[in-house]
Amino acid sequence: MADSQSLFPLSLISTAALPDGFSIRPLARDDYHKGFYECLRVLTWVADPTEVEFQARFDEMAAAKDTYFFAVVEFRGRIVGTGCLVVERKFIHNHGKCGHIEEIAVAKEHQGKGLGLNIMRALESVAVSVGCYKSILNCGPRNEPFYEKCGFHNSGIEMSVYFEEERDNYHRALAAWLESMTGFEGMQGHAAVYRVAKVQLSTNVKLTTIRRNGDRHV
Ligand SMILES: CC(C)(COP(=O)(O)OP(=O)(O)OC[C@H]1O[C@@H](n2cnc3c(N)ncnc32)[C@H](O)[C@@H]1OP(=O)(O)O)[C@@H](O)C(=O)NCCC(=O)NCCS
Repeated sequence: MADSQSLFPLSLISTAALPDGFSIRPLARDDYHKGFYECLRVLTWVADPTEVEFQARFDEMAAAKDTYFFAVVEFRGRIVGTGCLVVERKFIHNHGKCGHIEEIAVAKEHQGKGLGLNIMRALESVAVSVGCYKSILNCGPRNEPFYEKCGFHNSGIEMSVYFEEERDNYHRALAAWLESMTGFEGMQGHAAVYRVAKVQLSTNVKLTTIRRNGDRHV
């Protein structure tokens, strides 16, 4: 059993060959201040959730029993890598389970040390332990060689439909900033807002931060 602070039991992760000082474990409920969101920011736009929001999402995931398996790599008390296995229960394949690999991210300064590979191996061991017959993932061409090293092969094309206006991370950040400034929610869906926001932001120092964040993740 996982204790209430841990998303799932550590025993599901097989022993990993991490570099000295690094360890891998399940995400914990008190990880908010250890840089979990900073780590995810190497992957995409994250917004700026509060600790209460983090813990509410953690509790939802924990309550969806045997479904969400977020692993994290810790180094000197900071989270420097993460990845998630989401387990989908099927009617096909004799009511089989399919693993979906999501949110693989390693902090920039620790990339190239084998952490990504170790996270993938850890998630693979979880997938096997919980009875998945396969794991699948989506990625851009840039990351295909990495996932091939992790034992995956290209088995098709990815298709998507967005239920919000499709946009890059810069424009997501812009809308989020405007929501925080005005207190109005739902700005994400209003194209006109961006024109106003751009004008406002061009005279505001926050522009630098937002643009820098946005550029980094596109
Ligand atoms: C992709 C990512 C997770 C890889 O993690 P990492 O810790 O740097 O990778 P590793 O050090 O474990 O690399 C494992 C192997 O894959 C190779 N590899 C890693 N990224 C690669 C890439 N983009 N192209 C080619 N090979 C790559 C490494 O050279 C290494 O090969 P080796 O064992 O022969 O030396 C990391 O670069 C990252 O977080 N990127 C930004 C976020 C992102 O794009 N996530 C994936 C979303 S789909």
